[in-house]
Amino acid sequence: MNLKEMLKFADNLVFASTGKHLNDLQETILRGTWEDKDYKEIAKAVNRSEDRVREVGMELWQILSQELGEKVSKSNFRSAMERVQNSNILNFAQNVSGSFNICGESRQPPDIPNGHPHNKETANSTQAKSCHQDLSEMPELGAFYARTSEFETLKTWILEQRCRLIALTGISGIGKTLLAVQLVQQIKDEFEYVIWCSLDASPNPTEFQDNLNQFFFQSEKLDSSATNQKPLSLIKHLQKHRCLVVADNLHNLFSSGELAGKYKSGYEEYRTLFKQIEKLSHQSCFLLVGWEQPREITPVKTTNSAIQTLQLTGLDAAAAREILRDYGLEESEYWETLIQRYQGNPLWLKSVATLMQELGEGVNELLPDDMILLPEDLKDVLHQQFSRLSESEKQVLSLLAQESPPINLAKLLENSLILLADLLNSLHSLSRRSLIEKQDGFYLISPVVRQYATIANNYPKSL
Ligand SMILES: Nc1ncnc2c1ncn2[C@@H]1O[C@H](COP(=O)(O)OP(=O)(O)O)[C@@H](O)[C@H]1O
Ligand SMILES: [Mg+2]
Repeated sequence: MNLKEMLKFADNLVFASTGKHLNDLQETILRGTWEDKDYKEIAKAVNRSEDRVREVGMELWQILSQELGEKVSKSNFRSAMERVQNSNILNFAQNVSGSFNICGESRQPPDIPNGHPHNKETANSTQAKSCHQDLSEMPELGAFYARTSEFETLKTWILEQRCRLIALTGISGIGKTLLAVQLVQQIKDEFEYVIWCSLDASPNPTEFQDNLNQFFFQSEKLDSSATNQKPLSLIKHLQKHRCLVVADNLHNLFSSGELAGKYKSGYEEYRTLFKQIEKLSHQSCFLLVGWEQPREITPVKTTNSAIQTLQLTGLDAAAAREILRDYGLEESEYWETLIQRYQGNPLWLKSVATLMQELGEGVNELLPDDMILLPEDLKDVLHQQFSRLSESEKQVLSLLAQESPPINLAKLLENSLILLADLLNSLHSLSRRSLIEKQDGFYLISPVVRQYATIANNYPKSL
């Protein structure tokens, strides 16, 4: 939350409680408190007595405590506001149980049955162009390096081309979530409604849509003084308002032991939903993030399509170096090899950097060329992805790990017992999962995947 957002947020709360917006002195006190100034400094800046400033401050803390349902004082004001923003709970004392956040240049105050008169004139004259955000499930991640071109691509698709459905995929740890977080932070003000949904709990299609509808409906209720509004259907809402919906960890909707992107049983309705979002005319965007994407979403070459896919690859060398530096490692010639071996995957690099910190920086250099260090936490991450593979994918991957490159289709056919059709499907699926890459007719696997695939058979089946 920055200063501007804090002031808007506090103004909303004060309006909700008193029917009046923040006055100049109140605003100055909030600003000063945010900037860690004491009452004396604030009083001096506004040329008022310290007692008066303290008195108005006390009133403010009382109002905010009442509205937020927790004790707010000058000393905990900043942390209280940030906590509220993180949990995104705005309880306007109207039995609205929801988790959302309101901001925007002008907004209509919520209809609050708390005895305070509503300023109908203000309500009617401010054409609501509010933005409602529920980012309570959006993770907070650390430093963000590079990714300029991917960032710009996504931004162009969303803001300029107005894509309705975008899939952002890539192997675990490659940085999909962090990229999406950065994107949301930058573009959220372009939307009236922004919601981040983590699909970790595998919501079924009805639960997912109910969640969205509830967020939209409750937010809309706060926007409008009408008391008997009917909820809009999901698609109608996406048509009427500009909404951004991020669904992270999409792979939880798909079956394990099957080729990539096959819906779990009972989850097939998602296909209809995503098709509607792609095909029907509306002004909103769904960003789907995960290891796998639905099969019906295929990469498109045309630039003006309503649907796009981006398969994320590793960080460039400069960004990867920053990560190693963050771990306090000594710059070395070996870094280039290290970054290549771990394919610029930030999570893999972080994992191996931690181990190098513990075992000594030279540990990697001591390993033979065909061996790669796989820390236990990295094995666990890979295990989660490998355990989702179909039997035919496992066979193909283990074959690719055993054979010495270059490996083309003919060589694979020669050495495997898998039927051509199954082989092709498996290769296609592995490449959609970013576990293999096809270049000029040859199939490649990264050193980390190769190493893991060779030891995978000895790895515990369940963690
Ligand atoms: N561009 C980046 N710069 C710095 N660190 C990054 C970057 N992308 C990802 N990371 C870090 O790598 C780890 C994995 O990123 P995450 O976004 O969770 O990956 P994914 O969602 O693809 O599994 C996190 O610790 C994240 O902070
Ligand atoms: Mg993620």
